[in-house]
Amino acid sequence: MSNSVIVGAQWGDEGKGKVIDIFAAKADYIVRYQGGNNAGHTVVIGKDSFILHLIPSGILHKNKICVIGNGVVIDPRALLEEIAMLEERGIKVDSRLFISEEAHVILPYHKLLDELKEQKKKKIGTTKKGIGPCYSDKVARSGIRVIDLLEEDTLKDKLRSNLEEKNSVLAKIYGAEGFNLASMYKEYLDYGKKISKYVCNTKRLLNDAIKNKKRILFEGAQGTLLDVDYGTYPFVTSSNSTAGGASIGTGVGPNKINKVIGVVKAYTTRVGEGPFPTEFNDSLMEKIRQKGKEFGATTGRPRRCGWFDGVVVNHAVMVNGLDELVVTKLDVLDELDTLKICTGYKFGGKIYNDFPASIKTLTQCRPMYEELPGWRKDTTGITSYAKLPTNAKRYLKRIQELVKTKIVLISVGSERNQTFSKGD
Ligand code: GDP
Ligand code: IMO
Ligand code: MG
Repeated sequence: MSNSVIVGAQWGDEGKGKVIDIFAAKADYIVRYQGGNNAGHTVVIGKDSFILHLIPSGILHKNKICVIGNGVVIDPRALLEEIAMLEERGIKVDSRLFISEEAHVILPYHKLLDELKEQKKKKIGTTKKGIGPCYSDKVARSGIRVIDLLEEDTLKDKLRSNLEEKNSVLAKIYGAEGFNLASMYKEYLDYGKKISKYVCNTKRLLNDAIKNKKRILFEGAQGTLLDVDYGTYPFVTSSNSTAGGASIGTGVGPNKINKVIGVVKAYTTRVGEGPFPTEFNDSLMEKIRQKGKEFGATTGRPRRCGWFDGVVVNHAVMVNGLDELVVTKLDVLDELDTLKICTGYKFGGKIYNDFPASIKTLTQCRPMYEELPGWRKDTTGITSYAKLPTNAKRYLKRIQELVKTKIVLISVGSERNQTFSKGD
């Protein structure tokens, strides 16, 4: 059995898309288990660059099966656009994309409510894709699922009662115009017809595949510090992006998953609001942002950048049970004279090695840094660990030591071939 989960071990955008694409070569099924089109996973193949939001990054390998599990929230409009984009670029999706009947559907009122909530002073900095409001409805038991799009009367009933409530909230709380039942019903019934060929019992599909010794790769979206339980709540997304979510979000028992791999950048980034202890407060912010092209793959927003944070990654190692680490974007640090690694936080005479639960405390924590010499050499053409500059090896070794997790793969550029294993 070789079923692995790949998760982001920071605040998302760690390079999961690239890493999934590489690991997908040795998998049979690639499965998204949470999140929605708030994700933006980039895969670069030669001169072609693909940004995947909903469809698993394994789709770029010809014969792999891709599954969108029950834990994902699906905007059918965005899904159909993504399918069309892939087909236009010569990637066949039919008969290798499967969508769970039980996944929840993002509706226009979810997006509008997300946008309106974000206009408030205390915003989260969401992607405004309707993710939070859709997951709220799921938990409140008023959500609409993919299967409902395939049943005319169920869809009409659910839309009717939801619109009654949503339109009243929109008018009374936000002074906004509501939605029309007839046109929404027609539009979503049509989406149901268009996606019906992909819809199936994905729990059965995956469990049968496992019985037949197929290898499953679970593709995490977002990152550990954006997880609704383990992240910097409330500045998080609304799903469990950590490894445990893979089981809940697909119907595959935890005992069928035997490896968890964390992806980390050689530094740290975050998009949106919320605490970020190692965030740069000098010219390095712009320097790293430009060199690392740190602009959101989904929203285009500039990403906040900072030093590698050992407290964050240790937290990720624990809550995901990380077996191995992949370090990406080492090349972005090539020009620096000195590098810093955060080994702990200090606040009120106390040292924190565990991530504090209180946002108030976290905001006041000061990172404790260790300094290491930079390597000041271009690493983008390096193809083996042995050829890395000595100071780059020292940097990676220190990270490995600090987070007590083996680094198995190193990435020095966005292309497939700019990757090599660490060895021992
Ligand atoms: P994801 O959401 O975790 O899949 O990551 P994103 O795709 O949002 O962001 C990662 C960005 O870094 C993408 O533009 C990748 O093409 C790029 N990338 C991935 N690995 C490397 C690397 O090792 N070096 C550089 N310079 N860029 C990388
Ligand atoms: P990938 O999979 C980085 C962030 C948003 C915001 C918070 C909540 O590409 O790593 P949401 O729209 O989910 O309600 O926003 O989460 N966020 C991400 N940040 N990468 C992502 O996905 C993200 N998906 C959501 O910026 O701070
Ligand atoms: Mg991304």
